[in-house]
Parts: sequence; C-alpha cells; structure tokens
Amino acid sequence: MTILCWVKWMSNASAKPDTILVLDFGGQYAHLIARRIREMKVFSEVLPCDLTMHELESKKSQMKICGIIFSGGPSSVYDGEAPSFNIDIMKVGMPLLGICYGHQLIAKNVKGRVIPAKNNEYGTTFVTVDSPVGVLKGLDKTEKVWMSHGDTVLELPEGFHLLAHSDSSPIAAFGHEKLKIYGIQWHPEVVHTEKGNLTLRNFVFDTCECKPNWIVDDYLDHAIKEVKREVGEGNAIVALSGGVDSSVAAAIASQAIGKKLTSVLIDHGFLRQGEVEEVKKIFAKLESNLIVLDRKEIFLKRLVGIVDPEQKRKIIGEEFIRSFESISKDLKADYLIQGTIYPDRIESGFKKHSDKIKTHHNVGGLPDTTSFKAIVEPIKDLYKDEVRVMAKRLNLPKKIWGRQPFPGPGLAVRIIGEIDSKKPEILKKADRIVTEEIEKANLEDRLWQYFAILTDSKSTGIKGDARAYGYTIAIRAVESIDGMTANFAKLNHDLLETISSRLTNEIPEVVRVVYDITHKPPATIEWE
Ligand code: XMP
Repeated sequence: MTILCWVKWMSNASAKPDTILVLDFGGQYAHLIARRIREMKVFSEVLPCDLTMHELESKKSQMKICGIIFSGGPSSVYDGEAPSFNIDIMKVGMPLLGICYGHQLIAKNVKGRVIPAKNNEYGTTFVTVDSPVGVLKGLDKTEKVWMSHGDTVLELPEGFHLLAHSDSSPIAAFGHEKLKIYGIQWHPEVVHTEKGNLTLRNFVFDTCECKPNWIVDDYLDHAIKEVKREVGEGNAIVALSGGVDSSVAAAIASQAIGKKLTSVLIDHGFLRQGEVEEVKKIFAKLESNLIVLDRKEIFLKRLVGIVDPEQKRKIIGEEFIRSFESISKDLKADYLIQGTIYPDRIESGFKKHSDKIKTHHNVGGLPDTTSFKAIVEPIKDLYKDEVRVMAKRLNLPKKIWGRQPFPGPGLAVRIIGEIDSKKPEILKKADRIVTEEIEKANLEDRLWQYFAILTDSKSTGIKGDARAYGYTIAIRAVESIDGMTANFAKLNHDLLETISSRLTNEIPEVVRVVYDITHKPPATIEWE
C-alpha cells in the first residue's frame, strides 16, 4: 500500500461551491470573516483588496462567487496611502457588504460623506437599529456590538437608507436593498457582537442566496487538481515533519502525482525525543517513500550564539530550503511541496496592509531565491481544525491527526535566548516529562498544545544540601480551536506539582519551574 491508497474516499465535488470573497484591507479580523462563513458551510476566501477584474474572472472559473465582503482595516479612507479597491468591482452587480473600514470605503465611493468621528468608538458599544431589514433582519431595537474605528459615515446619497446609528456614528449601518449593497460600522465577525453571526447569515443566505454546499472535504478535490496542475510532469519532494499539516499535504500530493513524489524529513536536531523514530514507524506502516536527512550539525553550527527569534526563524527557513535543494538534485525534483496552513501565512504577514506577528519558518522564513521551480502549498487556505477533518477523510492514522501541533523550527524556538549544544538536550528531557504527565492525566485530547520552554533566566535553588544555580523551565498548556486565539489551560495543581518535581529531580540543570498563565492574545502560543 502507498500513501495513494490512504485515500479511500474521493470527492465527488465537481460543482463549483457557492463562495463569498473577502477583500482584505489589512484588518486584524479579516480571516475571522472567512472563518465564520465557512462555519456556515459556504466557501469563503480572503483575497488582497486590490483584486483585479482579470483575477476576479479567473476566480469565477473555479467557484460560484455570490457576494463580496470588504474587511476592516487600520487606515483612514482619506489617507494618501489608504488601501482601496478596483471600482469596477462595484459595477458587476454583485452583493457587497462593507465592514468598518469597508463600510466607510463603500460610503465614500457611492459619494457619501465620511469624516473623523468626534469620539472614537473602541470595544463594546450599543447601536440603535432604525430599520431591521436586509443584513439587519431579526435584530432588536438596541444591539450590543463591537466597534473599533476613528472615522464615521455622516451622509449618504439618494437611494441608500440609514439602517442603524450609535452615539458617535450617525450612520452606523446603511443599505441599498435593490443594489444589495450594505455597510456596517461594527464587526459582526467578532464574538463580542451579540448578533454578529445572524448579520453575516443574513448577508450570505438572504442577500447573496448562497446554498450551504461547501464542506471541507470538497477542498480535497480542488487541492489535488492544483498540485497536478502546478507540478505537471515533474518530480516533487514533500517536506514532512510527521505532523498533521505536512502529512495531509503529502497525502494530497501523492493523490496528485503518485510515484513522482518523495517525502523528506529533515532531522535538524531540534525535534522532540524519539520523534524521528516515531515518524519513520508511522510512515513505514503506510509504505510511503520517506527519506530522513541528518542535518543536525549544520543547523546547530548556524544557530549557536543566535539570540533574536526572527533571525533564528530566518536561518532555519533558509537551512530547510538548502537541505531540500541538496536532496532534490539527486531525486531530480523541481518542486517542493509544503504543508503551510492559513494561520502560518497570516502570522507571517502575507497580507498587504497588516502587521507581521512572527515569521513562520515555512513562509516568511524562506530565502528570496531557491532552485525549485515552485513551492506548492496545497492546504494554504485551511485552518488547523479543517486540516484535521481532511486528515480523517484521508484515513490517516490518529497518531497523525491527533498529534499536537509542533512548530517547524522545533525546539529551537522554545530555547529562549542563545542556543548552545547542551540546551536542546535539556529541553528534550523537559518536553518528554511534560508530555508524559499530560498524557498520563488523559488531557491530550482536550489541549491544543502542551510543552516546555527553556527560558534564559537562571536562578538560585537548593539541590541535595547545596546551593544550585540553574535554569528555569516554563510550562505552557493551552486550549484552542484553530491556534489563532488560545486560553491557558487551568491545569490541576497536583498535576503541576508532579511535573515540577519531575523536572527538578530528573534534570540536574533545572532548579525552577513556572507555569505560563497568559492567553493568546496578548501572548502568542510559542514564546518566540
Ligand atoms: P503562535 O506562537 O504564533 O503559534 O501563537 C500558533 C501555532 O503555530 C505554531 N507555530 C509554527 N508552526 N512554523 C510552524 O510550522 C513556525 O515557524 C511556527 N511558529 C509557531 C505554534 O506551535 C502554534 O501551534
């Protein structure tokens, strides 16, 4: 059996899915809009705000576009550099919904008036619904919503109706029922807006008349076709870590190009204890063509002495590519397939007009030039929970889809500060202890991730009867749905005590253990 045979199920999705496009003006929550819509079983894709008519036409050949949403964004519509959109998009007669900045942008383009608000509205606000029609159908007279804006819409041209107002926004929502154009100043995609989902549903199902005909499985058919199209007659290697993302990418690629695919696992020396052996075992059972490249010395040499997390990621991203390039020559492979997922791209700042959070090794960490003809990313639009659904559809074993996420740069981004040759070994032991205890307590399915961090803080302790000066290990355990936001897990104190005792007793270099009690945001899940 090869990876090819894992796929017992094949998508019969030949029809184009009903789709809502989200044009991204740099808003923090643009991806959440698409997420909410996908939860309604309607496909949604986030695209840059300067989408051309040609690009729109090409999208139409892949999907049935039923409506477009303009996201929020940090700019003011009157900034010289303010992101805008191709005005022809408003002429194609497609339903439009503007959110926050998108609301102001539509108002400005239909010749309304937008001015700086007297009082900015940030956070929870109450709006008065003047006309509960269109996207506001079913809303009460007073609604609790979440706002974050500096400008406000003051006047609208003929034909557009006021739908809602607030103390600082005389036109907090407007609509033109015949043209199917709506604008709302608040954020319906954020959970703090109580009837946000209803507002989006009204737009998706009533205004755009979408059918809930998208399930994540359909993406499989699309992804297989895309890999076939991009790789053509060539050979490819797939960057495998044994995690769910790269395994799904490998299974899809195998469906697309069969024996022309080789899976490559780079052992960079920052994998968890026993990880290489475990991945080999799983993949041996699946009889996939797997090569393990030992690059431990090369990675360590480049990382020793590096303190800055972004620099670590860049070095790792570059060394990954160079390692894959070296093996691809022997295999005559022109294409590299990666399991990059949507959050990796968001956090690496792939979106125009938005902020970079951290450079994920497989996106922003990549060098500018590579000898590969192309880097193919078949699951780049999916969230982690969607990837897990797909892994199950692909009949991948639970050992793969149930694994906790593990960053590509591995333990290197869990060693805070300078890396040396001893620290990875200390952290590997600590990570194993945390993992064992969490699994003993049967918490692994409840937690998104659980791991140890080797901090750069040393402190004094007592070991035996003597003074000891050693490392502080931090424990991180979080609950999350998609890794975009997370809550620290309220672990039982007895469990924390057991972990702490084992860490200090079994690892001579560790004298202190702390538990990270920060949510994401404001923190990220990983420390670097
Ligand atoms: P943060 O730390 O940004 O992490 O809250 C969100 C999720 O992404 C994982 N992560 C990475 N995965 N390459 C990866 O493949 C990376 O460079 C990387 N950085 C973070 C992290 O473990 C968490 O699940």
